[in-house]
Amino acid sequence: MAKARALEGRVAVVTGGASGIGAALGRELARRGADVVLADRQLSLAEAVAREACAAGGRVRAAELDVRDAAAVKALVDETLRRTGRLDFFFGNAGISVGGEMDGYSAADWDDVFDVNLRGVTNGILAAYPVMVRQGHGHLVHTGSIAGLVATPAQGSYTASKHAVVGLSKALRIEAARHGVRVSALCPGAVRTSILSGGRFGRLNVPGLRDEDMVAIIGVLRPMAPERFARQAIDGVLANQAIIVVPRWWRLFWYLERLSPSLSLGLWRLSLAELRRQVAKAVASRREAG
Ligand SMILES: NC(=O)c1ccc[n+]([C@@H]2O[C@H](COP(=O)([O-])OP(=O)(O)OC[C@H]3O[C@@H](n4cnc5c(N)ncnc54)[C@H](O)[C@@H]3O)[C@@H](O)[C@H]2O)c1
Repeated sequence: MAKARALEGRVAVVTGGASGIGAALGRELARRGADVVLADRQLSLAEAVAREACAAGGRVRAAELDVRDAAAVKALVDETLRRTGRLDFFFGNAGISVGGEMDGYSAADWDDVFDVNLRGVTNGILAAYPVMVRQGHGHLVHTGSIAGLVATPAQGSYTASKHAVVGLSKALRIEAARHGVRVSALCPGAVRTSILSGGRFGRLNVPGLRDEDMVAIIGVLRPMAPERFARQAIDGVLANQAIIVVPRWWRLFWYLERLSPSLSLGLWRLSLAELRRQVAKAVASRREAG
């Protein structure tokens, strides 16, 4: 019960809070007593999550936000501050993915992902970090990915953006310590959300492959339920861990990367070969059926 109300009186903003990991983080923060703002491009979905969380006894509100718009991110932070007088957590979590190999990429396949996954996070820093510095406390939590710790093929722009998010979070953690501000990078493995097939604003980019085919292919990795993910992730945040990998077994990939980068590359080369095989099989069976 103490854990359940440990965040009483604290204020948290979660970008990408309408679905998946963001919605689950918002619900878990509220369950632990925090006042939560779910900020997302999908306003009606965020409102539905907020209503449900309020009905369960939480203090949660929805706000429309496009994280690519720096002025809008700042306006949301300022408005939250006016309303509550403090900002304890800013979760830079909104993200999209473009699947497919880089020989088939267009300029937009790079830009769209960098604009949301990387610019979205830096816009959050521009808005929330000065507030936290002034307060002398606060915690920036950036959703990276296991793809920010190892090279995951067939999603080049996503991998690049997440390496950038993890890198900047580590650098900022070092800088921010003297202001009393904490910084963590949240690195999910596979979690059962819409991003497994690109998300509402992303895409798969593999001709002939349907979203449900990709979800089935990733299914072998047994994606974690977002609620379970959020409980473990918030525990990691409250323990002020620098890099939080959930589900925990995905740390094996990170350890291997550090132990033997060449072995790690070999493993991911094998995983790409298997992915290509699975994708070709799914596309062929779609063609036969259609
Ligand atoms: N699900 C996984 O397996 C997994 C693994 C590693 C990392 N992640 C990361 O977790 C984060 C959350 O993703 P998710 O898995 O919950 O997927 P999701 O698609 O369920 O949620 C992403 C949310 O971000 C919002 N969003 C997208 N673009 C936005 C923008 N420009 N402005 C504001 N909101 C925007 C979407 O509307 C959506 O609500 C992402 O950063 C993602 O890269 C997820």
